[in-house]
Amino acid sequence: MPTLMVPGRFFAATYDKMNAAVEEEFGGPRRRELLADLEGAVVEIGAGTGANVEHYPPAVSRLVLTEPDKHMRAKLEEKLDASGRAAEVVGAGAQSLPFEDGTFDAAVVTLVLCTVPDPAAGVREIRRVLRPGGRLLFVEHVRSEHARTARVQDLIRPLWNVVGRGCHPNRDTLATIRGAGFEVDDVERVIVPKIPSFVHEAIIGSAHRP
Ligand SMILES: C[S@@+](CC[C@H](N)C(=O)[O-])C[C@H]1O[C@@H](n2cnc3c(N)ncnc32)[C@H](O)[C@@H]1O
Repeated sequence: MPTLMVPGRFFAATYDKMNAAVEEEFGGPRRRELLADLEGAVVEIGAGTGANVEHYPPAVSRLVLTEPDKHMRAKLEEKLDASGRAAEVVGAGAQSLPFEDGTFDAAVVTLVLCTVPDPAAGVREIRRVLRPGGRLLFVEHVRSEHARTARVQDLIRPLWNVVGRGCHPNRDTLATIRGAGFEVDDVERVIVPKIPSFVHEAIIGSAHRP
């Protein structure tokens, strides 16, 4: 991660307000739809301020929310308390998850693999903590399919790293998921409304550990 970044306290304090419009129109409904059939033991990676918390169905019997940033974690704890949802909050990054092999039935990443410093290592670690057949559900903004926009993403990346606290607008995250040994079951490419065009191409879907 670059050393020059907006302060974590500021990022955490403004995150929900900055995303409110897009969450209401798009993010919230798509998160709910994606997570609706989850069950059993579930780990979320980089849970941030807890945008997914309200969408986990009752069939999720164990919910573990990992988040390495203490400011985001504080917001996450606040949201959990307000929701009444039981969950374990763990201060850990994707690259080093403090769980035994095969612990979880499913893992969730939403808008996280853009920021994890070594996404390939992070996804391999997620695979490790899933049982065989375990699912990875994802919503990630990705490298554009259009050469000109991809070039803009490459050019803007250094600045966006600062503004988005390590966020990369130009990653081919589906290739990273496949490269870590997942089989992709469903993937939809979408255009997210109300955000800049260099981060509005996203993938929503699911994969499983063979
Ligand atoms: C753009 S926010 C997304 C938060 C949340 N998942 C959501 O959907 O709103 C990116 C999150 O990734 C977290 N993060 C940064 N580095 C990480 C890492 N190495 N492993 C896991 N999460 C990380 C950040 O602290 C931040 O909470």
